Amino acid sequence: MQFQNSKERVLIVDFGSQVTKLIARRIRELGVYSEVITPKEINKLQDYNKVKGIILSGGPSSVTGKKFESIPKKIFSLKIPILGICYGLQLIAKLFGGKIKSSKKKREFGRAYLYKKKNSLLTKNFFKPKKIVWMSHEDAVVKLPKKFKSVGYTKNSKLTIIENTKEKIYGVQFHPEVTHTENGIQIFRNFLFSICKIKKSWNIFSQKTRLINNIRKTVKKNKVICALSGGVDSSVVALLIHQAIKKNLICLMVDTGLMRKNEFKYTYHIFKKKYKLNVKLIEASNIFLNRLKNISNPEKKRKIIGNLFIKIFEKESKKFKNVKFLAQGTLYPDIIESRSSSGSKTSKIKSHHNVGGLPKKMNLKLIEPLKEFFKDEVRVLGDTLGLSKNITNRHPFPGPGLGIRIVGNITKEKIKMLQEADHIYINELKKSKLYNKIWQAYAALLPIKTVGVMGDSRTYEYTCLLRAVTSEDGMTADYYNLPKEFLDKITNKIINNVKGINRIVYDISSKPPSTIELE
Ligand code: XMP
Repeated sequence: MQFQNSKERVLIVDFGSQVTKLIARRIRELGVYSEVITPKEINKLQDYNKVKGIILSGGPSSVTGKKFESIPKKIFSLKIPILGICYGLQLIAKLFGGKIKSSKKKREFGRAYLYKKKNSLLTKNFFKPKKIVWMSHEDAVVKLPKKFKSVGYTKNSKLTIIENTKEKIYGVQFHPEVTHTENGIQIFRNFLFSICKIKKSWNIFSQKTRLINNIRKTVKKNKVICALSGGVDSSVVALLIHQAIKKNLICLMVDTGLMRKNEFKYTYHIFKKKYKLNVKLIEASNIFLNRLKNISNPEKKRKIIGNLFIKIFEKESKKFKNVKFLAQGTLYPDIIESRSSSGSKTSKIKSHHNVGGLPKKMNLKLIEPLKEFFKDEVRVLGDTLGLSKNITNRHPFPGPGLGIRIVGNITKEKIKMLQEADHIYINELKKSKLYNKIWQAYAALLPIKTVGVMGDSRTYEYTCLLRAVTSEDGMTADYYNLPKEFLDKITNKIINNVKGINRIVYDISSKPPSTIELE
């Protein structure tokens, strides 16, 4: 799938690494347009006119086996600079006659120290005497391919960076795309601007008009329907399509009763009154509550909420005539990951919420205007569309909402309790200027009652769990180190103000091995 053929770009061949999309993101952060394609797609590609660089990603394949994922050798003779990362480096070495060995003893996972062997354009301003890089490999290049030189090494992998400057082919064993590699972005900067000599030409601001024109061309005089949740993606989709086709966009807001306190009302109001969108509200909280009664199994809850949402959405959308399109907030990472799982070999970690998420039976064509973009780009797009900062900077919120943040069975009282606690927590994070430093924060209600004492009385009430994490894309996460004074303040405030909660715990687990949500 190629989005912008006419643009100067860097192609990333995805061999199935979990972090391929971070490579694309880093390159776009540097102001260069990048696209991820599968080895099969690059095989078929004819026109390399605007391709200024090619990056070969990591992946689970091994060149030490008889069969391994590869690309046609002709790509190396196109005079387009090439950078191989991890598996990409091993593939280059293999194709040019080097030797690769698999070694359980010498494998490196996680932090490694990198040392310099010689100067290189690729590593300009990158090396320090002791440089930390992030590794994830069992195979390693043990003999240099012909006409290549070694640039850097670690204790366990002597050929960690290799180069053939004449052919402009480079390879690194470590992952410069992950933040654990110190200043990894410098490797991309050098590759793009010193080796590929590509100019900065990518910024999301310039995309708005093109996207609006494309929507007009696709939709013509037809109607589009869209499920609006108030999250960043659906909000940007709605505003964008509205700017293109005005009243022919119908937004449906299904109130599941499982949103944060006041959030549903706020979203409805802002889209209806401020942005003047054609929004229809569907009150369904009692239906959701009834169907969730006595259900405590997380997967069952998710299924009930998801299916019910689709059913209601389908039923309501049938009330509108001449609807031909269904708008969805699919993002580029969703496309990369869902394609990887069928095209390349990535092992799928989580299922995706947008791709194929909404009704299949509706006979509507999909319109996905954000499918070329990363979340941070969507936020910028939201800004250019005049979307309130309150929405563009919102933390991600899961589709099943508070339903998966009330561990165990769900009741009206528990929802109310959690909404209050969560509201206090999020407000305090904002007041303390911590909200924007955190990727996602929320309060959850645990199904545990413990004894407490308030005044002279004994209490026996619920436990509220607070979570705040830093992350880049939700695939991995670390807990945020909230200051002790903040924890003191928030604990007092929630216990004093929310009846039914007498204990607060702070979740300090990372992902993996935990997940961000509890269910
Ligand atoms: P986990 O719990 O898998 O969460 O570490 C990773 C990110 O995904 C969000 N999440 C969801 N988002 N529908 C969504 O739209 C869902 O069913 C869903 N489940 C988890 C979660 O909030 C976090 O940002």
